[in-house]
Amino acid sequence: MLRSPWLLLAVAGLILCTRRSACNEILGLKIPSDPVLNANTVCLTLPGLTRRQLEVCMRNPDVTASAIQGIQIAIHECQHQFREHRWNCSTLETKNKIPYESVLFRKGFRESAFAYAIAAAGVVHAVSNACSMGKLAACSCDDKRRGDEEAFRAKLHRLQLEAMNRGKGMVHGVLEQMPTDVPGPQDSWEWGGCSPNVEYGERFSKDFLDSRETFRDIHARMRLHNNRVGRQVVMDNMRRKCKCHGTSGSCQLKTCWQVTPDFRVVGSVLKGRFHGATLIKPHNRNTGQVEQPHFPHRRRASSSDLVYFEKSPDFCEQELRVDSSGTQGRICNKTSPGMDNCESLCCGRGHNILRQTRSERCNCKFHWCCYVVCEECRITEWVNVCK
Ligand SMILES: *[C@@H]1O[C@H](CO)[C@@H](O)[C@H](O)[C@H]1NC(C)=O
Ligand SMILES: *[C@@H]1O[C@H](CO)[C@@H](O)[C@H](O)[C@H]1NC(C)=O
Repeated sequence: MLRSPWLLLAVAGLILCTRRSACNEILGLKIPSDPVLNANTVCLTLPGLTRRQLEVCMRNPDVTASAIQGIQIAIHECQHQFREHRWNCSTLETKNKIPYESVLFRKGFRESAFAYAIAAAGVVHAVSNACSMGKLAACSCDDKRRGDEEAFRAKLHRLQLEAMNRGKGMVHGVLEQMPTDVPGPQDSWEWGGCSPNVEYGERFSKDFLDSRETFRDIHARMRLHNNRVGRQVVMDNMRRKCKCHGTSGSCQLKTCWQVTPDFRVVGSVLKGRFHGATLIKPHNRNTGQVEQPHFPHRRRASSSDLVYFEKSPDFCEQELRVDSSGTQGRICNKTSPGMDNCESLCCGRGHNILRQTRSERCNCKFHWCCYVVCEECRITEWVNVCK
């Protein structure tokens, strides 16, 4: 019955919500029974994998399922970041297969560079979090950031006894902070709890995505570079969360664990890199040199820049050859200073003013625990639509 891997993932509570209301669950918290994520259900039914990706999948079908979920999340974030652009990332949404076969992924545009980077970041993000949630057989919490629980419990117990003797209660508060390399004396803390295994996530993202590249041409060099940029953005934006233990207000004992950045942050950082992307020149040496793309000497690019080698089309008219749906019918904003300004979005063709009714989720309520139920409200309004 469960033939599509997507359906399976949905059953596993692993997939990001598409338009269906079934997806109101907060991701990952409401998993029914253990899903059947094995090589047959995940790998053999998923179109678009290369032979080497299939091998990776067969070895780790559950991790691959998380990776694919990560790619889905990345594409949703891409749609958010590009919602005002003429190319709005909606063409990357594929129903039943991974999106790497799509036209844009086969091009060398700035947009392609962004898509590679965010997808690779999505894989690191999803896999490392799945590790720490105990969902995967191959990995668990990050061993390097795991405290000595026994010693901690003993210390806490001693503090509790002291507090009781003084007649004060214990408090536990959660703080959030950016990681600092050297904790100061007042700021002493130790690892506790479970940190996502980003090293494993990074490695898997490399194994699974970089293995698509079998040639060492400019396409491959661009893809491998941008994949790496995307992964690095996740690693560079890890945060630390801490919890205080001790008598009221004292924070005598502090334990910290790492958390991955909100994926919105990853999307925004990469969007900035999209604007600052560097054009690389094709050069025909088939050197197998992949780590450092050849940058034009006029402008040095740092290794954290996105790189591309093909000038993007204007995406004004429908042209499937370059993955352009055109902007006819898109809603624009007459007063916006941004990309969704009517003049710019409609490419000078002008716009019509239409009365449009749409439905929107509203009056959302959070239910303990853990899902959200919304009503559907119908909104009628005047909109500007590109000719
Ligand atoms: C993205 O563009 C497509 C094609 O122009 C359009 O159908 C779709 O509604 C757009 N999506 C958003 C969120 O604006
Ligand atoms: C249009 O853009 C302006 C300026 O950014 C903004 O204040 C306004 O809310 C936008 N209107 C719509 C309908 O999105």
